Amino acid sequence: MYDPLAIALAAIATLAVVLVSSLKGTGWEPTADISDEVLEKRAAAVPETDFPEPGNRAIGGGGGSAIPAGGDGEGGELEEGGAASAGPADIPEDEIEYFEVEFLKEGETIELANNETILDQGEEHGWDLPYACRQGQCVSCAGHITDGPSEDYIEHDNQQMLDDSELDDGYTLTCVAYPRDSFSIETGEAP
Ligand code: FES
Repeated sequence: MYDPLAIALAAIATLAVVLVSSLKGTGWEPTADISDEVLEKRAAAVPETDFPEPGNRAIGGGGGSAIPAGGDGEGGELEEGGAASAGPADIPEDEIEYFEVEFLKEGETIELANNETILDQGEEHGWDLPYACRQGQCVSCAGHITDGPSEDYIEHDNQQMLDDSELDDGYTLTCVAYPRDSFSIETGEAP
């Protein structure tokens, strides 16, 4: 029924076709990778800038001032006491001054030292004065000096809440306020 010769010829022909096509390949070739070339072209198109290197940005010359030029004395203090700078609280015993301060709401005038805060000395006197943070970072302890700009009468050690106009109006944060003159104050008064 089947002619063995025809089957053999067909098999040989099929093998020949497969062999030829595998030798020739499919003709497909991968596209050349041009990404490097494109990147180089783009880089060449961007103009050179005059920006300084990141490490050289000393605009205004402020970088050098962060380090104090003459730190002999301060260095010694840091090693001994750990304080970066002397504030009113560091006034030596023999240099302490006292001022007459009238507490209007409490109805009494007492002497306050210039090396302790108004709040501390008022409490030592027995008054229950308002406060919260005791670090000049809220206004719970605020008071009003009725004689004029508060900084004419007290020294603030790191108050962070009152602006210049409020200070000029006589407001003070008693937890960081050290007397430097006699004055009258209303406690519990915020701007
Ligand atoms: S208690 Fe907060 S600023 Fe004085």
